Amino acid sequence: MLFPQSQLLLRNINDLPGKLLLVEPMADTLAAELLRQDFDITVFCTDAAVANSWHKAQVHLAEHLQLPAASTFDGVVIFYPKSKEQLPELLAEIKPYITATTEVYLVGDNKGGIKSLPNQAEKLGLHAHKLDNAKHCLWFALSGLADVTLPTPQLKAFQWDVLGRPLTLFSRPGVFNHGRLDQGTALLLSQLGFLADVGSARVLDFACGAGVIGLYAKTLNAKLQLTASDICALSVAATNASLKHAGFDVRTVCQAGMPEGRYDHIVSNPPFHSGLKVDLAIAHEFFAKAKQSLSVNGSLTLVANSHLPYQEWLQAEFGNVKELARTNAFVVWQAIRRK
Ligand SMILES: C[S@@+](CC[C@H](N)C(=O)[O-])C[C@H]1O[C@@H](n2cnc3c(N)ncnc32)[C@H](O)[C@@H]1O
Repeated sequence: MLFPQSQLLLRNINDLPGKLLLVEPMADTLAAELLRQDFDITVFCTDAAVANSWHKAQVHLAEHLQLPAASTFDGVVIFYPKSKEQLPELLAEIKPYITATTEVYLVGDNKGGIKSLPNQAEKLGLHAHKLDNAKHCLWFALSGLADVTLPTPQLKAFQWDVLGRPLTLFSRPGVFNHGRLDQGTALLLSQLGFLADVGSARVLDFACGAGVIGLYAKTLNAKLQLTASDICALSVAATNASLKHAGFDVRTVCQAGMPEGRYDHIVSNPPFHSGLKVDLAIAHEFFAKAKQSLSVNGSLTLVANSHLPYQEWLQAEFGNVKELARTNAFVVWQAIRRK
């Protein structure tokens, strides 16, 4: 299966030089197509599921977001990121690996923000030139990257007052809701008081983003043994920074879906998107795995948009589900593993 962005890349394959860096590609069969044509491919990506699929294809993968030192590429293709603010960061990240002759291309879905690329490029002192338009996607050449100065990407600290507790969260573009507290998450936090009385229980913050749920839980009870996981390497780095700054220990895991382990309590504002598309299968699988990973009498407490069918799914999986809080937009549910 090839996503439209990858199909557009293949339509323009004759433009591409042999030593190629792909930035934030999709999890599809593009690797096989490129390897068949003898490209030397390196992949830089922040999504663990995408990294895993390219890993299987045996290309060079930038582990821990580190590209091989002192390497340069003849061509770079950037898949336009989900968040527009992430583009300058991606450009800064790859800049040390390009030369004046490196060809830089961008591809993206018409609905994913790439239409604003010419303006965005101009503001950065770059020039984006549209070369192709098909499959509801656009293909651009970008010039000037070797000559501009871009700020070094780094985590930024944000101060929030959460239910009377001052929290410092670290984040950067690409991390969920960068710099802002989600309203659903705020509602979930208001229902986590029970964690103050569970001693050194094992707690999982699933799909942790910048780590706000885990950090708040630790401020309620510093003894908690906290694990935090997310599919996004930027989120995991942000969570590590948020917990470390507050002086708390955390085990972080970067992977798609539930991390291995046994937990006494799982808390989450679970995702319902894969990329730009709604994907309820993630939550469905999460509920089943959460039940298997919980100790007896352990709890799963989560918040979700009120229109999602989670109450029914939790009831089917756990045999019990309680509504803890509700607003017009969000509901907090809790299910207990009885046996
Ligand atoms: C709604 S956000 C919640 C973030 C954070 N817990 C908060 O409340 O601010 C959902 C998170 O799920 C992550 N995510 C998306 N798909 C995932 C998957 N398949 N497995 C694990 N995490 C995933 C996203 O990167 C994002 O950080």
